[in-house]
Amino acid sequence: MISNKIMIVDDEPDILDLLKDTFEEEGYNVITALNGLEALEMLDTELPDVILSDNRMPGMAGIELLEVIRQRYPESIRLLMTGYADLNIAIESINRGWVYKFITKPFKMEEIMITIRRAIEYYEIVKQKKILEEQIKEQNQILEKRVEERTIDLQNLTEELEEKNRTLSQQKEEIRRLYSHLQRSYLGTITSLHFALEAKDQYTRGHSERVFHYSLHMGRELDLDLEDMVHLKYAALLHDLGKIGIPDSILLKPGKLTSEEYDIIKNHATLGATILDPIQFLKRVKIIIGHHHEHYDGRGYPDGLKAENIDIQGRIIAVADAFDAMRSDRPYRAARSRMEALDELVEMSGTQFCPRCVDAFNRVIVEIGDFYDDPELAEKYAEELKFMEYEMPGMPEVFPYRRKEILEPS
Ligand SMILES: [Fe+2]
Repeated sequence: MISNKIMIVDDEPDILDLLKDTFEEEGYNVITALNGLEALEMLDTELPDVILSDNRMPGMAGIELLEVIRQRYPESIRLLMTGYADLNIAIESINRGWVYKFITKPFKMEEIMITIRRAIEYYEIVKQKKILEEQIKEQNQILEKRVEERTIDLQNLTEELEEKNRTLSQQKEEIRRLYSHLQRSYLGTITSLHFALEAKDQYTRGHSERVFHYSLHMGRELDLDLEDMVHLKYAALLHDLGKIGIPDSILLKPGKLTSEEYDIIKNHATLGATILDPIQFLKRVKIIIGHHHEHYDGRGYPDGLKAENIDIQGRIIAVADAFDAMRSDRPYRAARSRMEALDELVEMSGTQFCPRCVDAFNRVIVEIGDFYDDPELAEKYAEELKFMEYEMPGMPEVFPYRRKEILEPS
């Protein structure tokens, strides 16, 4: 164990020796000086924990010496031995913090030993406190550095994440754009097919648009929600799409069809659904188109579905489709009058047609009129019945290419 070092400064060798011996017996490491200058010189090489100095000495007074030492080694504990005559100076020096305590001369050895022990204890406490403070300071610096590093890491990570998020959003947007483009392309192709069908079959020209107008009015009459209306819109326009796959010799046959030929014609419902297969957003439309020739009593085709098992849109289109077909001239028969066609619908209500849909159609025909009675009606409704009224986010506008662009390319 390293013992504490004490420096004693006194111009009286006897006192020096006495104190030195006593302190050494106590286990302290003792150095001595006879005056202030000698003490200061020694301090260049020695660093005592406690300095005990007499005040009255030739050359430099003890109080001056301790003040110099305080400035050079503030951590040292300084004690002043003084006579009664210098008591005021001693008290003031304590008040100013220059010395820790003073010992009056003549002193008792027991008293001086207690003071020295306390001074050493005080020195150790101050030293420990300083060490602790240093450690805390060091720990704080380490912590601050870590926090700083972590903060920088976190900032980098945040920036990296933000960048990734931006990239992801851009990629998502690009995929969405491409997907929408793809859907529009498909729809464009199908629209072309639809117009191609109308171009080759003059008897059905304009039929899909008329069915479309009737159907949307019926849908509104029957309180369909937006989603059902959007599906109805596409299905009504594309319901006979499958006819594109029916040979011209059958589709355009001027006379009555044989039952084999009629069977082939009947395939158009399923064929239309198959053509729409790749278009994700027309999944529902595909099913409706497949069912537009089902009968309410289950005697229709292709699946023989009954009543409510047929989509409401399929039942609506069946009525509009039949009315428009009856009202148009065909190679094998003349058009029926409006009343005849309506009577036929009412007659077939509950068998071929959904009664609710026939009722709705009867109200609609009163409201909007008959395209065959009023040739300008189609033009009027193309303007007035806003296609966009039944749009859903993410679904392209119906018929992205106008009829004119398809049939009369520039
Ligand atoms: Fe059809």
